[in-house]
Amino acid sequence: MASLTIRKLDDAVKTYLRLRSAKNRRSVEEEVRVILRELIEGREEPLTPFSAPPAPSSAPTPQRTGALPEASVTLIIGGGIAAYKSLDLIRRLKERRVEVRCVLTKAAQQFVTPLAVSALSHERIYTDLFDPQSEFDAGHIRLARDCDLIVVAPATADLMAKMANGHADDLASAILLATNRKILLAPAMNPLMWNNAATRRNVAQLQRDGVVLIGPNSGEMAEAGEAGVGRMSEAIEIANAAERLLRPPVPKPLAGKRVLITAGPTHEPIDPVRYIANRSSGKQGFAIAAAAQAAGAEVILVSGPVDLDDPAGVTVKHVESARQMLEQVQAALPADIAIFAAAVADWRVANEGEQKLKKTAAGMPPLQLVENPDILATISKLADKRPPLVIGFAAETEHLIDNAKSKLARKGCDWIVANDVSPATGVMGGDRNTVHLISRKSGEIAVDSWPVMTKEQVAIELVAHIARSVTDKSLEPAS
Ligand SMILES: Cc1cc2nc3c(=O)[nH]c(=O)nc-3n(C[C@H](O)[C@H](O)[C@H](O)COP(=O)(O)O)c2cc1C
Repeated sequence: MASLTIRKLDDAVKTYLRLRSAKNRRSVEEEVRVILRELIEGREEPLTPFSAPPAPSSAPTPQRTGALPEASVTLIIGGGIAAYKSLDLIRRLKERRVEVRCVLTKAAQQFVTPLAVSALSHERIYTDLFDPQSEFDAGHIRLARDCDLIVVAPATADLMAKMANGHADDLASAILLATNRKILLAPAMNPLMWNNAATRRNVAQLQRDGVVLIGPNSGEMAEAGEAGVGRMSEAIEIANAAERLLRPPVPKPLAGKRVLITAGPTHEPIDPVRYIANRSSGKQGFAIAAAAQAAGAEVILVSGPVDLDDPAGVTVKHVESARQMLEQVQAALPADIAIFAAAVADWRVANEGEQKLKKTAAGMPPLQLVENPDILATISKLADKRPPLVIGFAAETEHLIDNAKSKLARKGCDWIVANDVSPATGVMGGDRNTVHLISRKSGEIAVDSWPVMTKEQVAIELVAHIARSVTDKSLEPAS
């Protein structure tokens, strides 16, 4: 039987379901079941429970504190004084775009009201294992499995004892026994209960079972004059721990690697106010810097004049001319990987004017050009500080692959990223790029042509190749 994940539905459908379920005082899942039953029985309610769908609210939407994708949590609230903090926990989780469905134990209802919990979670709450409304299709199993994480806060000594021993005589313990999701417990109890040998045994057993604990903290107890370990962690600590468990771990394949990147054009002065430049925007090099940083590398970006914000977490050295760029590149060595994406001017003016050149009757000023230093070749041919992987860029307007292959041989680098920059492609200054990765593979020159991608995608793909090459010996360095 297929299962339906409500949070993956279109926003409009979700809004409709939420409004309709709120109106009928049912959970969203129950409302879906009712709609399906009515359809089958031919008693379909009109599809507009309210006269018109709500207009988008002008009220500020809750602040999203992390880049967490939508997720859902079943929150079990146990019967302890700290249950009041769970109201704040619901809010903290919802701020992180986590849907929260709450289960209250019988004892929990002595500390917080189902109405308060339901109002904060915008969902009906669950209290009873033998609730005919939700159990006609094993609701406790859905609560156990149709979520990404189960959080128990406060986790009472009693609930932990039941869990450690596999009891299932109420809704909370039945869910905890029937789940295959990760469980996060936030214990809260008197220090003597926490230190009791039975609780110690139960906690040790739960940890062996793979249950994750947050807290308890040390501090004042609700009971007058008592202090010690047993205070439930603060709502924000529990929400952060839940977020860590919900967010898929981000791989950091370049952790511990130092990556040097150049980007942008260079400006070669003619006189104090004029210069020779090119159309490079620096977007590709900046995207590579951001992708390498996200992959865990320490990144130094040497950039020519560009109109871009420095990528977060990257050390940026701003330069103007090719000679300044080379100077900063040499200063940044040693590096594990060097990527030369800058469009460095091949020539500069030999006789740079100290003052602004003036129009004279003698005609045009004679502009003598001399070659700039070749940064890629200089670094590729270093005897001592050559980075183990040196990658150059070949921006060509004709004979792309042939020119790039000969550049690979001539410069002595390991890979060339070749791209066609003829005006029709819109690559210079644009957001997309079509590249060919030229490398040496088992002694042969290999050409890997990638489809048209955004410059960010090219950057991510290139960083993924670099990460693989760190372990793949078939991508041989030139020297
Ligand atoms: C005022 C009061 C406060 C309590 N606080 C706690 C507590 O903080 N931690 C705990 O483990 N039990 C506490 N208890 C005991 C639990 O409420 C009791 O063990 C109950 O059976 C737990 O049920 P549950 O685990 O199903 O929620 C408290 C009891 C009372 C009367």
